[in-house]
Amino acid sequence: MTTTEGALRFPDGFTWGAATAAYQVEGAATADGKGPTIWDTFSHAPGNVRNGDTGDIACDAYHRYREDAAMMASLGLDAYRFSLSWPRIQPGGRGPVNAKGLDYYRALLDALGEHGIAATVTLYHWDLPQELQDEGGWAVRDTALRFAEYAALAAEALGDRVARWITLNEPQVVATNGHREGHHAPGLRDEAAAAAANHHLLLGHGLAMAALRAAGAAEAGITLDLHPVRVVGDGYPEGLDRARLVTDAIVNGLYLEPLLRGSYPAYAPDDWLPPSALVKDGDLDTISAPLDFLGANYYCPVFLRAGDPADLRKNEEPARCAVPGVVEYRPGSLERTAMGWLVDPSGLHDLLMDLSKEAPGLPLYVTENGCASEDYVNPDGEVNDADRVRFLHSHLEAAARAIQDGARLAGYFVWSLLDNFEWAWGYSKRFGIVFVDFETQRRIPKASARFYSGVVKANAVPPLR
Ligand code: FCB
Repeated sequence: MTTTEGALRFPDGFTWGAATAAYQVEGAATADGKGPTIWDTFSHAPGNVRNGDTGDIACDAYHRYREDAAMMASLGLDAYRFSLSWPRIQPGGRGPVNAKGLDYYRALLDALGEHGIAATVTLYHWDLPQELQDEGGWAVRDTALRFAEYAALAAEALGDRVARWITLNEPQVVATNGHREGHHAPGLRDEAAAAAANHHLLLGHGLAMAALRAAGAAEAGITLDLHPVRVVGDGYPEGLDRARLVTDAIVNGLYLEPLLRGSYPAYAPDDWLPPSALVKDGDLDTISAPLDFLGANYYCPVFLRAGDPADLRKNEEPARCAVPGVVEYRPGSLERTAMGWLVDPSGLHDLLMDLSKEAPGLPLYVTENGCASEDYVNPDGEVNDADRVRFLHSHLEAAARAIQDGARLAGYFVWSLLDNFEWAWGYSKRFGIVFVDFETQRRIPKASARFYSGVVKANAVPPLR
């Protein structure tokens, strides 16, 4: 619906939130009985993270959660997406709970509750207990079983305070960046381990869904990173068509199809598919059990064009689909964020429309969307992140248009509430709507926080000019 001033309205009851993840914000890496995670190990090994940064202190959210909850309330947010650190709750990934870890999450949930902020809790945002990694991690089936036990413990202890559960964050990134390419923990460069992790992550999701339901949890679903695949230029239509299908299978289908249809995608290359020996009878039924919602993280599409991988031109990269005569490409006409990621809000609209067609009736949440930019505090003590304001504005407009066009979008979470530990980039990339001075831990809401707060309070996005 459009207001008289031309603003696009969101439906009543639309959920407005901000997102973070445990390893990226909590710090307190060894406090109160927390066990080591694969990200502790990985970030402490030289050469893995820019500038040798680690999550040891991060935003110190472990101690500053009350201040952060009050800040979210002042921005008018009604939801907060954060993740639980598995080894805070089960230090070695199995066995009895660490009561102090649960106490922290109860206190955080209560602080949110006092401000009327509903909790969306991710069970796994990449910080596997190191002891489970030592036994094979996601490349082995047992980790999926351990994950379901942890999900049950978490839901029993915290379920009365949680509005919405997300089993996994972006299993594609875990398998690809962590196991195939090695620039995330656990740092493996092993195709077989990546394909196995793909399956065991999804199995863990399915088993955790059942455990959450058995514990009487509220809504439950999963978050995927999803990337519309676009073909640009002309020439070589057959190759490009195949390349699009294969790329879509690799970046989206290997997760989306088992979840929604109970099968692995026909176009996925063999070296990306979990070997059939790993896929036991009944696994795909477990994985495809109904979701209450699907969380989509959207940053940018993947573009393909005809080209020669052995003779790459400007803005071209080898294509992961490995179809001869095709390259991945970053159109020079699109803006880029400080990550080098392309800015394409129409991709968010298209993604939401495609999902609504693939899973009619399934509520969707944008569980992450945002950008890194070169933020700094100006002499007036302010952070004028005009790029991020424009980014959020155009993407919120795209989301509103998708709703108008029939997408069942129920909520939006900006990534991120705070500048934080951006994985292999350490603290060099700032994604927050709130600036964090990592020396003092001072929080400074940026111009984008004010812009976002205005959208949230009006439940509408002003016209783009
Ligand atoms: C996503 C991650 C999130 C953050 C953003 C920028 O892939 O889920 O933790 O790093 O990217």
